[in-house]
Amino acid sequence: MDTKYIRNFSIVAHIDHGKSTLADRMLELTGTITAREAKEQLLDDMDIERERGITIKASAVTMHYEYEGHTYMLNLIDTPGHVDFHYEVSRALAACEGALLVVDASQGVEAQTVANAYLAVETGVEIMGVINKVDLPAAQPDVVAEEIEHVLGIRKNECFAISAKTGKGVRELLDAICELLPAPADRSDEPARALVFDSHSDPYRGVICYVRVFSGKLRVRQRMRLMHTGRSYLVTELGKFRPAMTPVEELGTGEVGYIVANIRDLADVHVGDTVTDDANPAQDPLKSYQPPMQMVFSDFYPGDNTEYSKLRAAFDKLALNDASFSFVPQNSPALGFGFRCGFLGLLHMEIIQERLERENDIDIVQTAPTVSYEVVMSDGQVRRIGSPSELPDRTHIEELREPFVRLEIITSTESIGGIMKLAEARRCKLLKTDYLNPTRVMMEYRAPLAEIVYDFYDQIKGISRGYATMDYELTDFEATNLVKIDILVNGQPVDALSIIVHRDNAEQRGRKLILKLRKAIPRHQFEIPLQVAIGGKIIARETVKAYRKDVTAKLYGGDVTRKMKVLKRQKEGKRRMKSIGSVQIPQKAFMSILDTS
Ligand code: GTP
Repeated sequence: MDTKYIRNFSIVAHIDHGKSTLADRMLELTGTITAREAKEQLLDDMDIERERGITIKASAVTMHYEYEGHTYMLNLIDTPGHVDFHYEVSRALAACEGALLVVDASQGVEAQTVANAYLAVETGVEIMGVINKVDLPAAQPDVVAEEIEHVLGIRKNECFAISAKTGKGVRELLDAICELLPAPADRSDEPARALVFDSHSDPYRGVICYVRVFSGKLRVRQRMRLMHTGRSYLVTELGKFRPAMTPVEELGTGEVGYIVANIRDLADVHVGDTVTDDANPAQDPLKSYQPPMQMVFSDFYPGDNTEYSKLRAAFDKLALNDASFSFVPQNSPALGFGFRCGFLGLLHMEIIQERLERENDIDIVQTAPTVSYEVVMSDGQVRRIGSPSELPDRTHIEELREPFVRLEIITSTESIGGIMKLAEARRCKLLKTDYLNPTRVMMEYRAPLAEIVYDFYDQIKGISRGYATMDYELTDFEATNLVKIDILVNGQPVDALSIIVHRDNAEQRGRKLILKLRKAIPRHQFEIPLQVAIGGKIIARETVKAYRKDVTAKLYGGDVTRKMKVLKRQKEGKRRMKSIGSVQIPQKAFMSILDTS
């Protein structure tokens, strides 16, 4: 197809501003799907995704649309909206020439709107402002247009006002996509180069690569080469998502589709890699993007009722379709054999954890998540660690650095004071305050990731009565005054309970932590001392008193079924426990580290 009539674009938006609804409406108006199918929100195809209402994996769909007597091919590449998945937004944008920035007319510009707009600007795509949900009684399209102009620099009179729900303005938007977004550059005479912007593994067909062709063309039965690994494969099928996978004979310059080529292992396909023709290869690969940085780490151990090998098999299965999640075997002196896992962020971690339990019926004990640190050793070497237990001996450490982010918070003017107080307590430095309008403000901070990654969002939501939104992006690692706190349970150090904190808060955090642990660890038949140590020195102690809880004693032995029920309940309560020496520690105790209140 003539590249003149191709448009490749993404929709980016803050969560719930209507990205999926708009995608569905476009699919319907272009006849790609029927109205009934649209109801089922086609672009989100994972269960958890639907339940949580967030888009995780980028998917792509090809539509055909008539405009001014020509048939246009519109390729829509879907993107996730959550901060954990910035990386996936960038890689979807890298396959496009344009982006629709959707803003809810009743909510206005939110933190993720700004973050997504920045990503779009960095990628160099053409941005169109779209104000959605104009059908709502609370819609204020003019106020929102002002905000878009003020914060994002998109002219307010160039924004499109639509309702993705009723379809109002969507046809005009499709016209504008054909009229205003740039066509792909025509490089059909050059050797084939296609960007792999996503991939997934199919149990029957091997790895399916999602590609955007930038030059030349790909043909079925040709040998293709992945430039990163240099390996070549026979292309057995090419196709497009309409939205079902539909085979085609070739994919030309500017087109978006998929490749099936008998690739067995997902690890062989690097997202961001360039596909070329093995017989007539391109000289240079396309510009790639940075691999995703794992920001949050946590250890997963099989609970007392689960085998290590079962956990390993479950991880292997999960990793097949999620290249940004990693796991390595870990042996903890206190908890035994398990895995150290790396995630893009906290939400990513929760999704993996949920899928593990739901799809595999296993029982895991997970340690509190931690960020990664940079350790400068006395010999000058720099090491990244993802767990306080990996911290080398103090005498070998020259400097300990923690990750810092640029944090944006958008909130109502009434909650500024409360948020500033919280941010200050979390060691955040205010860089800029910008009034979007008389009632809404955007604050920009430099913040230590460790202080904002866990409960900070919930806290600012509370302070602002649900109003505030935030987003952040890693900027650098900086040396700060950090110390490691160790916890001893019954005289034994439990590495999985260690934390790294700023020295100014260390004593207070340590004391609070053992208070929480005292409540979380059930009484045993003996007394359990809990101690906090900083640099080998014990600074605080609590005790879990001895107690024998004979739950069936008061049932007199008469009613057997009742007794069985109580015992069963007690057994269930024991799940997700981990024995350390003779002490049983429940899952929630490991998480008490996170509770800083
Ligand atoms: P994520 O996938 O979580 O990023 O959300 P999203 O941006 O895809 O939002 P989605 O399309 O799921 O819409 C969120 C909610 O807003 C849904 O309940 C939609 O029905 C509703 N919605 C979307 N567009 C409109 C609209 O134009 N008008 C009204 N009234 N509601 C809308």
